[in-house]
Amino acid sequence: MSPNSRRHRTTRLLHRGRAGFGENGLAPVNQPPVRASTIRATDLETFERESPYATKGTDTTRALGAALREVEGGDACHLCPSGLAAIAVALTALTRSGDHILVSDALYFPTRRLLNTLLKDYGVSTTYFGPHATTDEIAAMMRDDTAVVFLESPGSDTLEVLDVPAIAAAARQRGAVTMIDNTWSAGWLFDPFAAGCAVSIQAATKYQAGHGDVLLGAVLSTDEVADRIAHAHLSLGQCPGSEEAWLTLRGLRTMPLRLQRQGEGALKIAHWLTERDEVAAVLHPALPGHPGHEIFQRDFTGASGLFSFVLKPEYDDAATRRMLDGLELFGLGASWGGYESLVMRKRVREIRSVSDWPHDGWLIRLSIGLEEPDDLMADLQAGLERL
Ligand SMILES: Cc1ncc(COP(=O)(O)O)c(C=O)c1O
Repeated sequence: MSPNSRRHRTTRLLHRGRAGFGENGLAPVNQPPVRASTIRATDLETFERESPYATKGTDTTRALGAALREVEGGDACHLCPSGLAAIAVALTALTRSGDHILVSDALYFPTRRLLNTLLKDYGVSTTYFGPHATTDEIAAMMRDDTAVVFLESPGSDTLEVLDVPAIAAAARQRGAVTMIDNTWSAGWLFDPFAAGCAVSIQAATKYQAGHGDVLLGAVLSTDEVADRIAHAHLSLGQCPGSEEAWLTLRGLRTMPLRLQRQGEGALKIAHWLTERDEVAAVLHPALPGHPGHEIFQRDFTGASGLFSFVLKPEYDDAATRRMLDGLELFGLGASWGGYESLVMRKRVREIRSVSDWPHDGWLIRLSIGLEEPDDLMADLQAGLERL
């Protein structure tokens, strides 16, 4: 066993993907951004062997890829200009016309749009399963032409937890590949490869970059599918900008600390919300009453800072506007995972395909940042009183 493999993951993350020493024996702490389209070769033999071009990677993107693999595992990492681009690369890489995709109904909406429009037009069909379906029910929906089972756990906005190891095992038996959008766990709190997934997607825009100023995605994969992912990635020209890769690598070094702090703050606020009269339900998998709590305890090493709650149905459009417009610390923003807390509201029924949603009130999604949880609760309390 090498000394590196005995070290804690946090330590390994800090020392992976560092800048190499120059000819003078010196190196900066952080990998600098390499700005390149052309990559020159010393001689024709090298040029013809490597066929170098910056879409294939630079020192910056290679360093980030190595650090992301240190976080999450996998044999290969392909970087994309956004999380959604990473989803699109992975799905187009592993499906062909005539294939079928099975997917959870609690899905990031743009993934649903991709499946229901572009991929459908290319001859790839999709079936949705309810996010509370049992593994047997999901396995029964797998068909001979099912190429991919695409999971999100916890589910987007509504935080249902899936039994990923059991679903991935059933998919493997049927010859299908399991892919997971593992953004909620930042690849740090849930191990998709130990659970049997062949592909894990990160919207590194969220926790890895962590500062609300970067769009970047990553497709991590095992050897069994890495060549197909590499082919789609290169053919579609999906390379991120150098500044984005550099900023994500910089943000990634502090991700474990931020995640821990944001996760603790979120759980404290979630507990507090369960006591509020205005609230019909708090959707957070680390709360003991959550339907996926047991699986969450078994499979996750902690919670991140994104969760939702549902208001009682008497609070209408105008009331929630009063609540959200007056918040001082929570920004109104659609992304999440950064250092600043964010809020948005949703009508879940409008985005579901097959499953019933039991609540009539507005869903409020919170991304808890690094502010003191007490200050955030005071901001929310004033908002709830404005309802
Ligand atoms: C679960 C999930 N996956 C993927 C994405 C896409 O990330 P990006 O904004 O980098 O395209 C998001 C963005 O909100 C998301 O919430």
